[in-house]
Amino acid sequence: MTLLGDMEPAEAESVYFNEYSAPKALPKHEALARAFIDLHVEDNRRVVLVTSGGTTVPLETQTVRFIDNFSAGTRGATSAEYFLQQGYAVIFLHRQYSLLPYSRHYSHSTNCFLDFMDEAPPTADAANPDHGSIVVRSEYQDEMRDVLRKYRYAKQNNRLLLLPFTTVAEYMFELRAMAKLMRPLGSNALFYLAAAVSDFFIPRSRMAEHKIQSQEIPAHLQGDTVDDSEEIYTGENEIQPPKNQKKLVVNLDPVPKFLHRLVDGWAPDGSMVVSFKLETDPSLLVYKARTALQRYSHHLVIGNLLSTRKWEVVFITPDAPHERWIRVPKARRSKSISGVEDQVGLAEIQKGGSAQKPTSQ
Ligand code: PMT
Repeated sequence: MTLLGDMEPAEAESVYFNEYSAPKALPKHEALARAFIDLHVEDNRRVVLVTSGGTTVPLETQTVRFIDNFSAGTRGATSAEYFLQQGYAVIFLHRQYSLLPYSRHYSHSTNCFLDFMDEAPPTADAANPDHGSIVVRSEYQDEMRDVLRKYRYAKQNNRLLLLPFTTVAEYMFELRAMAKLMRPLGSNALFYLAAAVSDFFIPRSRMAEHKIQSQEIPAHLQGDTVDDSEEIYTGENEIQPPKNQKKLVVNLDPVPKFLHRLVDGWAPDGSMVVSFKLETDPSLLVYKARTALQRYSHHLVIGNLLSTRKWEVVFITPDAPHERWIRVPKARRSKSISGVEDQVGLAEIQKGGSAQKPTSQ
């Protein structure tokens, strides 16, 4: 059997997308995105699709367990703020419950918003001594006002569209749909792919329907699909533990790299595509980022290492200087740093890529 990763990109696309039904939320997301894009086409405004956060790989159709990755969505949420500041409208395609632009400053995972609040001194209302206002503590007022104003501006002016996904299949459906909807934008479209996308998945046809069992199920409770000659509990799926063993062996297939289809098929001609390359081994990073740029022929690969991603990235471009490191000086690195973007700004990212995507065929 040919693996999806070994097929031609267009064939892999049709096989992969036929395997799943589209996410339930897709029609609603498409309608929202269409209206959002129309508005900004009319205003001749640049629109960026920022992808952010990690994708999950469910182990069961009725999902109890899934494979996940580390991404909190810091890169995507931080970059989205800088794009907004530069006048872009942002479609923020993000993992549900990961960090969001602006609210990220006060999230549960970085700073709990309650730590920023205080009770105002009691009012003179003797009948209601406990009904004083809740206020932001004075030392945080300036920063919070600034964040609040930017957030309000983005909302009131329709500059930010938030679209959530969870699984890798949902992500792929959404990415394809958004890229196609963005066609009327032409060279005003930018793709900034910061999500941590799963490289492996379990094809739908091999997934367990129900929760994978860790103990043998009595014969009278097993479904009709049980074949006693197999070392498997429920029919075809390949991830059930063999009888009498408590091991769970998970057999994953490669997810096709849809970057190829994005650049050559889905995205508008003239748009710009920026992808990220994540590695943990420093000796591989530049090589892998360069290979990605050559393979997909897009504009910019931003390479980062898991351990240093918050203070250094490398830009790999088709044109000279080909490789450029951006580093936050040691003195400016602190625990509160949420991303290299907060330190160097988006201008660096815009400088990194050439403006035009090669026109396909
Ligand atoms: O969210 P943070 O905690 O701030 O972390 C940010 C980040 C490290 C996740 C981000 O900076 C980053 O590197 N994102 C890309 C992670 C990733 O998917 O790397 P990759 O080397 O597996 O893939 C490279 C590119 O191929 C990605 O742009 C991805 O969109 C694309 N891809 C990946 C898998 C796949 N099946 N198809 C793809 O097209």
